[in-house]
Amino acid sequence: MLRRLSPVQPDSFEFTPANLEWAHVQMSKYPEGRQQSAIIPVLWRAQEQEGWLSRPAIEYCANLLGMPYIRALEVATFYFMFQLQPVGSVANIQICGTTTCMICGAEDLIAVCKRKIAPTPHTLSADGKFSWEEVECLGACTNAPMAQIGKDYYEDLTPAKLEELIDAFSAGQVPLPGPQNGRFSSEPLGGPVALADLQGQGDPLNASAALARDIGETVKRIDGTEVPILAKWLRTPPAAADDRSGVDTAPEREPRPSAGKPADATGVTEQEAQAASAARPQSDREPAGARAVERAEQKDDAIDR
Ligand code: FES
Repeated sequence: MLRRLSPVQPDSFEFTPANLEWAHVQMSKYPEGRQQSAIIPVLWRAQEQEGWLSRPAIEYCANLLGMPYIRALEVATFYFMFQLQPVGSVANIQICGTTTCMICGAEDLIAVCKRKIAPTPHTLSADGKFSWEEVECLGACTNAPMAQIGKDYYEDLTPAKLEELIDAFSAGQVPLPGPQNGRFSSEPLGGPVALADLQGQGDPLNASAALARDIGETVKRIDGTEVPILAKWLRTPPAAADDRSGVDTAPEREPRPSAGKPADATGVTEQEAQAASAARPQSDREPAGARAVERAEQKDDAIDR
């Protein structure tokens, strides 16, 4: 499937201070000079901030990690988890359209999305609250057909049930995720045939749905308030306390794991694959591309020496 950037783009992108701090922590997890390994979490956080990945956001992340724009763009356009078009302010509804769900009625769910949200995927509803798309198997085939809404799975859906869910989200409610037909999890529709005597005991929701209920994230975007930053080497006493025991165990200014150490046998400590500029592909002005020009200059320098 062709994945293109949106024709409509904002002028700029910038991380919030909390997200920037979080991004620096992720970058510090990698060896010196290999900070671009953090591209996926950093892009993901940018998407959580805005709801989707704009071109300025992708370029901002590339700059932050010191990598050419094209390499960040390659990652953003390759993975379907990255949304390249604006999504609904409440939710982007992902309908699984793969074999099991298709046989069990995914096309009817898509018809609901077309009628209630927009006739085409990746298009905002009239009120801007929703968008939808068809996705590949989400791994809940025994509860087909299903959809992912926000962080959660809504399973055993019917068109009427999906309409109810959309109306509830639109009204600001957060319906319970999990099977929507009364099933506990993925037992046979007629009831469990194994461990049947345990039926009805314990939590009425299965572990996954109960966790979703307890965490309550659902359609909320990750903004840093969920869990503390656990990279103790970036904190200084007295704030450096172990998050579980409350005991200060962090040495003062513990260094980045590989600060100053060579990244490989060549002895470099910084990423070598740097372009002459952040984004200069082949063009009429530079038919060989910026990288080739740079290589030729390096060769001339070597000859002069
Ligand atoms: S086919 Fe839909 S979840 Fe697997």
